[in-house]
Amino acid sequence: MSISQEIEAKINILELVQRYVPLKKSGANYKGLSPFVQEKTPSFMVSPAKNIAYCFSSRKGGGPIKFLAEIEKIEYREAMQLLAKEAGIELKTDFHKERGSNQTDIFEAYKIAANWYHEELYKSENSEKLAYAQRRGLTEATLQNFQIGYSGDSRGLFALLKSHGMSEKDILESGIFVSPNRDKFFGRLIFPIANFTGHTVGFTGRIIDAGDPKYLNSPASRIFNKSEILYGLHLAKASIMKLGYVIVVEGQMDTVKLHQAGFTNTVGISGTALTKEHIALLRRLTTKIFLCLDMDKAGVNATFSSLDSLLNEEVDCKVIQVEGGKDPDEFIESGGNFTKLIEEAISPVQFFINAGKSRYDLDSVVGKTHVLREALKYVRRMTNRIEIDMSIKYLARSLDISENVVYEELKWVKAPPKKDEPTGMMSLDFWHTLIGYCSAYQLYDLFLASIDYTDEHFEGIPSFDFIRSEILAHLGQSESTDIDSIKALELQVEAENEWTQRDTILLKFSELVKRAQKLMYEHEKQALASSMDQNSIEYMQAHLSLISKGKKLGII
Ligand code: GTP
Ligand code: MN
Repeated sequence: MSISQEIEAKINILELVQRYVPLKKSGANYKGLSPFVQEKTPSFMVSPAKNIAYCFSSRKGGGPIKFLAEIEKIEYREAMQLLAKEAGIELKTDFHKERGSNQTDIFEAYKIAANWYHEELYKSENSEKLAYAQRRGLTEATLQNFQIGYSGDSRGLFALLKSHGMSEKDILESGIFVSPNRDKFFGRLIFPIANFTGHTVGFTGRIIDAGDPKYLNSPASRIFNKSEILYGLHLAKASIMKLGYVIVVEGQMDTVKLHQAGFTNTVGISGTALTKEHIALLRRLTTKIFLCLDMDKAGVNATFSSLDSLLNEEVDCKVIQVEGGKDPDEFIESGGNFTKLIEEAISPVQFFINAGKSRYDLDSVVGKTHVLREALKYVRRMTNRIEIDMSIKYLARSLDISENVVYEELKWVKAPPKKDEPTGMMSLDFWHTLIGYCSAYQLYDLFLASIDYTDEHFEGIPSFDFIRSEILAHLGQSESTDIDSIKALELQVEAENEWTQRDTILLKFSELVKRAQKLMYEHEKQALASSMDQNSIEYMQAHLSLISKGKKLGII
């Protein structure tokens, strides 16, 4: 057994995958929405028996190591090392050393830094900084929960990272320092930003009291991409699933304060609108999204832009409006009832009207037209007639026009162009399917007996290398080149035939074999025609014998 097989044998794929993706049992396997593509029909399957997780849309995934590498966007070797740790297996060669440097993993560096900042906050010389956090209403439990910290000593952190074996170059490239011993976040309150799994991948630092810039973020990196990160998501996941909806706010402070007030299903976007990537992350947990962005100009624009991204995503969306120009943090601090705000959340259509009032002159034809058409984009995709009727009435009333006109306009607003639907269970290439059957039901021998073609005949057909190596592996003449792919193929074929009886499976298989024969026959015919002079006697003879072969096989 290879070392990676040894590690994988000790990892429970189901448990590993469920840290990232909610799954439902489906026969002997588990199914869910793929974490690798945006999709509405689950095409992601986990087989505990085969110990693999595979997405049929993107063809990503495989055994535990490959899955982890792909979902965390890390190297195979790094994933292997992480899982080796979990499996309690010691890797004999340290791959960091292998790579010629003794660097600490970037996740490790961020973890060390987050711990360091957090401890700094409690040092006596930083008591005023702690006092600022307390003045902002952050409780001890919240400071712990979000691991909030303070950066007051960059030398110490630099030295600490070095003592963990990081080179100066790697420390500088981590994005935490601007130059040796100059911490980018120096003098700021630190909010560690974690990814879906809870690994810290960046920081945002708020200036104490007032100053400019108010917030500083880690630079974008391999592991930190603002449009894919939702602040607090790792802490909110369970609650989002339990409550069935998510609240999206702007920024760290609002996220933290809502969690503290009991709204633990809150996540934050940092100074951007909700992106398609964010939505894809959230869709793994819920399809009900409450937007609660600031109601200032930037916030309203971000809401418009978020609503635009949410259009056609088949998610239920509502807008929570905090009155009086306050943000959620200020609203809660002033004793406001946030539950009531959630209950009073408005539909996107209502939001267009409300926001339209301050952006356009709604007494003018231009203003009315613009706002109505924007709002109708939403109505257009509603499927519930009652909801459509209510929206039409609402729009007519708000804009003081007749319902008939709204209805006519609705017909005018073109249906949004249908995106290419994610394909769900993608139809596999023919040859892959055939190999999948051979492997899943031990039909290689039957296939080889009925095909009457030898190795060289396969040359030039798609997937030739793959078919050949699998056949050779079956004959015991070589190792399978890609065990994960074979397992994935088996999984798909088995899932497709879960309720199918063996004789029907054999029938399906014989159809596949017949098609294979036909393809091979055509292939041979073409090869013949292009390799010989078609007026020669030899060609005639070869052609005739080919035809009789075709007849014998029942192909022609
Ligand atoms: P507090 O003032 O601490 O309550 O934060 P806030 O979230 O209320 O800040 P504000 O409403 O001013 O800004 C909203 C969000 O925009 C913040 O949470 C940040 O994510 C982002 N932001 C604000 N100021 C800056 C800045 O100076 N630089 C960057 N990069 N982002 C900022
Ligand atoms: Mn604020």
